[in-house]
Amino acid sequence: MTDILRVAVIGAGRMGADHIKRLSTRIHGAEVAAVVDVDLARAQAAIAGIDGAVALASADEALNNGDVNAVLIATPGFLHEEILYKALEKDFPILCEKPLTPDAESAWKVVQAETATGHKRIQVGFMRRFDAEYAALGSVIRDRELGELLMLHHQHRNPDTPQGFTNEMLINDSVVHEFDAIRFFTGEEITSVQVRLGKATRNARTASTIPSTS
Ligand SMILES: NC(=O)c1ccc[n+]([C@@H]2O[C@H](COP(=O)([O-])OP(=O)(O)OC[C@H]3O[C@@H](n4cnc5c(N)ncnc54)[C@H](O)[C@@H]3O)[C@@H](O)[C@H]2O)c1
Repeated sequence: MTDILRVAVIGAGRMGADHIKRLSTRIHGAEVAAVVDVDLARAQAAIAGIDGAVALASADEALNNGDVNAVLIATPGFLHEEILYKALEKDFPILCEKPLTPDAESAWKVVQAETATGHKRIQVGFMRRFDAEYAALGSVIRDRELGELLMLHHQHRNPDTPQGFTNEMLINDSVVHEFDAIRFFTGEEITSVQVRLGKATRNARTASTIPSTS
């Protein structure tokens, strides 16, 4: 492998576009080699101005493109699993946007497949661990600067959500950051979770996102 990561970004939506911009303007040692989106026009728009990058409509094409040696997965969570297995087969380093997969069982299988390769290949997009203030708070907790940790209080506010954002996505796509942060701060596993739903506001986007109360 060369020193430079030639990254195939799979999914050029909100998050993919963000990663593409970062990779091509701010990250050293990594470049965008390919952008894949089922919406090829979106992939083409995403590579505008990026020398040496190609736009493709399938992840397979990108993984088999000799110019690619790393993968960034930014498709919706339920599509991650299949691409993860293919990228692991290639033994590429992978940055997979959270959630790794939408459920624990399939995520565990992916972890086992990674373990079978004999080395760490997947990083999940839990970026808060790299946020300077989170890191500083982590040190305060670990070094017991203020004594023993008694309780953590996290709040996650989504000022707005995209069309079609469901209650399940609230857990799998948003609160999942808190699940990671709790493990990061405490070094412990979460053993019990309760979800309580309040009434939806009249400003909620669609009736289909409000769960049945029966
Ligand atoms: N780390 C964070 O804070 C953060 C924030 C937002 C989203 N995310 C994660 O990023 C991922 C993408 O979210 P998003 O908001 O960018 O979604 P999005 O819907 O904006 O973008 C997804 C893109 O994937 C494309 N796509 C769909 N199926 C595909 C396929 N089979 N092959 C290739 N491309 C395909 C779509 O056309 C779309 O352009 C999700 O896993 C989400 O949870 C992470």
